Amino acid sequence: MRRNSRIVGTGSYLPPRRVTNVELAAELAALGVQTSDEWIVERTGIQARHFAAADVCSSDLALHAARQALQAADLAATDIDLIIVATSTPDMVFPSTACILQNKLGAHGCPAFDVQAVCSGFIYALSVADAMIKAGAASKALVVGAEVFSRLLDFKDRSTCVLFGDGAGAVVLQASKAPGILASDLHADGKHVGLLCVPGHVSGGEVLGRPLLTMDGQAVFKLAVGVLDAAARAVLERAGKLAADIDWLIPHQANRRIMQSTARKLKLPMDKVIVTVDQHGNTSAASIPLALDAGVRSGRVKTGELLLLEGVGGGFTWGAVLLNL
Ligand code: ACO
Repeated sequence: MRRNSRIVGTGSYLPPRRVTNVELAAELAALGVQTSDEWIVERTGIQARHFAAADVCSSDLALHAARQALQAADLAATDIDLIIVATSTPDMVFPSTACILQNKLGAHGCPAFDVQAVCSGFIYALSVADAMIKAGAASKALVVGAEVFSRLLDFKDRSTCVLFGDGAGAVVLQASKAPGILASDLHADGKHVGLLCVPGHVSGGEVLGRPLLTMDGQAVFKLAVGVLDAAARAVLERAGKLAADIDWLIPHQANRRIMQSTARKLKLPMDKVIVTVDQHGNTSAASIPLALDAGVRSGRVKTGELLLLEGVGGGFTWGAVLLNL
């Protein structure tokens, strides 16, 4: 019989410091940077984001989210036989944030590694875990997206610093007889590296290049809408489903207008889309599992429903996962 993988628990965590647009605009004004709640809401749908304290790392946020997901799955950390963390803001250059998380969880010995695909990171990580479970290489995987993206922001650049926030989301993916993940579709095109990047790197004890986020927002917007639609159609076709079968679209939370465009192309009403960007901002690899957990915990997203998860981000990377919860 074909081995399947199913999500059996979700969790998430936001650092306690919530910063509204009005508060952020006041902080930026002190730096001589002009923005407003009206501009941010109108262009992005973002009303607030959470920022981690200076001594908090991605693994700290991941730990909270992972514990919640394990509790929801009724499993102990020691039951887990694979840990994958999607992050672009690792605690250290090495070892991986997944290894640091594994130690914090008190679970030793299972494979643990990071996936770096920026805002598509969770889609990549979930697809890798699914493939490893289907191949028999793991049976209970912890898949986490965790970011302290605020560390990468140039607070003198109003076109980017208002968009992002910090947080973590996690799922436990378990081998099952019943189908869970039905299809996934992953892509990258490195010719777009310069559209969205943090070009700094460490060399000889120094950071060389600019270690802050740089983005061509309009080019990103146009690319994102096209590739997300293609990935959504690919997974639907692979699983023999129609867009009308989707119970919930849970997209990467970058910008409300990108989500509206993708939903419109699939002819899905916005009340079938889980939107958290208004309260979380763009938390990169954490945004999809954060939104999934918000949907589950609010009682909207239920076991057995058909979910389309999709992400796009720096690289360029993009992809989608279609699953029965
Ligand atoms: N507050 C006030 N004014 C601003 C701000 C701000 N925070 N940022 C930019 N502006 C100004 C610009 O300076 C410009 O002024 P000008 O006309 O006097 O030159 C004006 O607003 C318009 O700027 P645009 O860049 O054309 O604004 P646009 O409508 O394209 O919105 C945005 C910018 C929100 C970044 C949009 O392009 C976008 O959402 N792009 C998608 C990028 C994205 O979501 N990236 C997330 C990471 S990638 C990912 O996760 C998929």
